[in-house]
Amino acid sequence: MIDPNSASWREETDAAGILWLTLDRPHQSVNTLASPVLEELAAILSRCAVKPPKGVVVRSGKKSGFVVGADVKEFTTLKTLEEARALVQRGHRTLDALESLPCPTVALIEGSALGGGLELALACRYRVGIDDDRLVLGLPEVLLGIHPGFGGTVRAVRTIGALAALELMLTGRNVKGRKTRELGLIDRLAKDEPTAVSAARDLIASDPGARRASFAARLLSLAPLRPLVRRKLIAQVSRKVRREHYPAPYAIIDLWARYGARGSRAFAAEADSIAALAATPTARNLIRVFMLQDALKAQSKDGAAALGRIHVIGAGVMGADIAALCAVRGLEVTLQDREQIFIDQALVRVRADLEKKMRDPEKRAAAIGRLCGDLAGAGVGDADLVIEAIVEDVEAKRALYAAIEPRLKAGALLATNTSSIRLETLASGLDDPSRLVGVHFFNPVAQMPLVEIVHTPLTSATSIATAIAFARKLDKLPLPCRSAPGFVVNRVLAPYMQEAMHAAREGFSADEIDRAATDFGMPVGPVELSDMVGLDVCRHVGEIVSRELGRPQPDFSVLDAKLAAGQRGRKSGGGFYLWRDGKVVRDASTRVPMPGVATTPDPRARADLQDRLALIFVNECVAVWREGLVGSADLVDAGVIFGSGFAPFRGGPLHYARERGFEACTSRLQELASRYGERFTPDAGWMQLR
Ligand code: NAI
Repeated sequence: MIDPNSASWREETDAAGILWLTLDRPHQSVNTLASPVLEELAAILSRCAVKPPKGVVVRSGKKSGFVVGADVKEFTTLKTLEEARALVQRGHRTLDALESLPCPTVALIEGSALGGGLELALACRYRVGIDDDRLVLGLPEVLLGIHPGFGGTVRAVRTIGALAALELMLTGRNVKGRKTRELGLIDRLAKDEPTAVSAARDLIASDPGARRASFAARLLSLAPLRPLVRRKLIAQVSRKVRREHYPAPYAIIDLWARYGARGSRAFAAEADSIAALAATPTARNLIRVFMLQDALKAQSKDGAAALGRIHVIGAGVMGADIAALCAVRGLEVTLQDREQIFIDQALVRVRADLEKKMRDPEKRAAAIGRLCGDLAGAGVGDADLVIEAIVEDVEAKRALYAAIEPRLKAGALLATNTSSIRLETLASGLDDPSRLVGVHFFNPVAQMPLVEIVHTPLTSATSIATAIAFARKLDKLPLPCRSAPGFVVNRVLAPYMQEAMHAAREGFSADEIDRAATDFGMPVGPVELSDMVGLDVCRHVGEIVSRELGRPQPDFSVLDAKLAAGQRGRKSGGGFYLWRDGKVVRDASTRVPMPGVATTPDPRARADLQDRLALIFVNECVAVWREGLVGSADLVDAGVIFGSGFAPFRGGPLHYARERGFEACTSRLQELASRYGERFTPDAGWMQLR
């Protein structure tokens, strides 16, 4: 028997004989399809099968939305393949029972129906969605290294056709608002709850029959065509990820190609496939990354309410984008620079950018309306938070602070976007250093998820909490860290990118170096990354980080030769690669030659290259952990994954080291140190990690 106090489902039968099943998991902010929820549902459905109601409507009792998916945490507790299969099969049996009820069934969707939530809805005969901003449907399992496992790989194809369903599953993307109906995931869109309720009643009364993919779409699932489509899809996926790193998208294609979403074997194969995937290190690590992301998100939101007005100083690359993001997220923003021309240029750029990104003209106009140029800096005195993003120059920043500090509102925060200056240096001239905090965004601001929240011993707890709340308000992932050279992300990237330069000097080509890193799982190699960041910036940050850490200056000869030739990377159209329209031109004939390199690396050097790049990176992460720059090893992993893109399927640099074995890592580092130099000496932190 289910204890009514812990019941997740409420059952109400109305006068028309329709059973309204409302999912409202107790003590949870969102609904997930955890095992107890499915068990309860199975019990209700078996009663319905014996004595069917007129119809069944499944809906959510949560304001937060319909159902956000299966319970990811349950996947982390699975020990064997059998356990995984049993978990998935329970879901299958329950949703099969829902689909096979003799009466019409409707999912009434308000807000998000993701993963298992959408699978639940697809097992209903009809779906009604409430058409507002919050209506979001998707099958994002692939992002966790798995695929839909409650019949979704089959039902999605049947409902919307193979191409649309495969695209949804392979990208894991969300479908919002009206698009849900255009795609065929939703049968009826309703403007509000009462209308949705009557649409559900109407569908039950008329029972027009479940939607099926169009004839043309069904043709594609015929056996003779499937191998052709499969080949095309595999080619597309393999351009993005490799099977050995990310097996799930390949499994999605293979499942469909073998069974065409037909018959009970398609369901059984889905269960086997997801059970096997759930046991892979990739899935375990991607689920870990998902939970790390949740942990960053869950940091205090206190103080967000106090933020209404933001003043940004410096309308360059970073300042303009930060100002735009604040305006998009509903904050009133003033943007200051030295001269009106810089403000005007920034506003033109930001507006053009928002034209592309924000489709809704009203929302776009409102965002643009919230962002005002402010040459005189009138906004300083009204702002709850002033962000400085002027040139990276200590004296310029200190002079600016001296001028604005007396005008700051009581309790206002002073934030700097500096990427390499120690906060202590900037705080030393302030009357009240407790209000200075680093809010270090990465470039490009709109895309990079991480923001380092940098503090000194003098920064107040309130300032840190407010800065965290600010980052969350912008939907960024805040990483609180102590002020130190390069903070966390630039600190760990510096030796890795310098190692790429060492390799370049030894005669490795840019492509070879980058391939060693992407073979490891990095999204882009260090040479391409250097081009993206800008070779001048790389040199500058590399120099500062080494100097402040008291290390010998790296050999910058390769970078200097490039810079002397005016090749600064993507922004100048060429660095180590040629760039066109923001992308590398991967054509051997256009390759930019390495300056002053005559040698060819020997086979042993080739065999070492990947470990040189990976382990020098990991070694620096160990140092960051040992120095306590962030709160825990998990936070080091989270920060480095979201700040640098470190191979997510490896679960983070320290997690990777743990899985490879600390002993194995340190002995390999020692070997590399004897061959290539002291920079590979294992950090003292390895001893404490063991
Ligand atoms: P930028 O050179 O594009 O823009 C700086 C702007 O500040 C210019 O428009 C300049 O006219 C203005 N400015 C200079 N002194 C000023 C003053 N006293 N008052 C008002 N405006 C002044 O520089 P960028 O790249 O946007 O960098 C800004 C800050 O962000 C720097 O501290 C940099 O280290 C940091 N940063 C830069 C990143 C990047 O990739 N560009 C990434 C992360 C941080």
